[in-house]
Amino acid sequence: MAEPLDIHCKYSPSSPLINASGCQCATKTMLDTLLDVPGLGSIMTKSATLDPRSGNPEPRYWEDPSGQFTINAMGLPNCGLAYYLDYYKNQGETRGQTRFTSIAGLTMAENLAMLDLLFDPVSSYYKYIDMLEINLSCPNIVGGHGLAGYDLANLGQYLYTLLAKFYDLEQSSSSSNKIRIGLKLPPYYEFNQFDRVVNILKIHNSLTGMASPVSFIHTINSIPNGMVIDAETESPVIKPKDGFGGLGGSIVKPVALANVRAFYTRFKSAGLAEISIIGSGGISSGQDIFEFILSGAEMVSIGSQLMLEGPGCFARMLDELSEIMKKKGYTKLDDFRGQLRQL
Ligand code: DHB
Repeated sequence: MAEPLDIHCKYSPSSPLINASGCQCATKTMLDTLLDVPGLGSIMTKSATLDPRSGNPEPRYWEDPSGQFTINAMGLPNCGLAYYLDYYKNQGETRGQTRFTSIAGLTMAENLAMLDLLFDPVSSYYKYIDMLEINLSCPNIVGGHGLAGYDLANLGQYLYTLLAKFYDLEQSSSSSNKIRIGLKLPPYYEFNQFDRVVNILKIHNSLTGMASPVSFIHTINSIPNGMVIDAETESPVIKPKDGFGGLGGSIVKPVALANVRAFYTRFKSAGLAEISIIGSGGISSGQDIFEFILSGAEMVSIGSQLMLEGPGCFARMLDELSEIMKKKGYTKLDDFRGQLRQL
């Protein structure tokens, strides 16, 4: 009999799949459709601000009829961080799925206030989440100040301010639950951008040691500021920001694979292999998952395909992945993770 396939990853014993933030995770009703879904090892909540936001005017999301891509300028519609933390708290202290929460404060002060809320001693939300993603790459804020993930001159200081505060709060909470921290990054294009981000992470993790390291990165967020035009109406297909919006779906996959690979190889040579990579961008099949893991991803997140197909996509994609692994004789993800060959 064939050896059973093992698709555990570092953060989930059952599966490397997670929903991308923003997809099917803004309300309790949406999140409930992800609970205990076969194949979904972890759950992510919508990137939150401190207070609820209604987001940008509609239409603000559009799917290409051929299924090749999506464009959105949602503008962070969300129920406020307390809502998502309450959601997890109401589930109890342990769950089969790993619990990720994403924060996207519009200012440093707002991100710091969200950390205070997470460690509030009365609600003790920190007991109920496993992973905290800091979103440095929301491209859709009208009048926003640019993406923190592109402000490489200030990113090191930004991380240190935030994560030193996290560590202080964690220490004073006497929490036994170790929350791991990660960064949702925008797509980068030039090798010197990857080098700079890796250097910032290296300095950060060596300065803060075991105290407040970055444990994972999540790459890529949507490609910012694309445009889709409807020739018949002679207008863009989305209303906010005069039609500019973030691109997702299969057309972004080559950029996403390149970002995963660029970080994976640099983390290895910089002695940062402990930073895990969650790959994201245009994943719609088991073969896509295979390619991301081959490039070096520890996990992968599914955004546009979840919107197009619904939560049944996770088990389908894992079945496809299993078929590929069986054909190639791999029994676990570590057999091929990062093992992309050179021509
Ligand atoms: C939104 C878009 C993003 O790509 C993101 O990372 C967070 C929020 C949005 O427009 O709501």
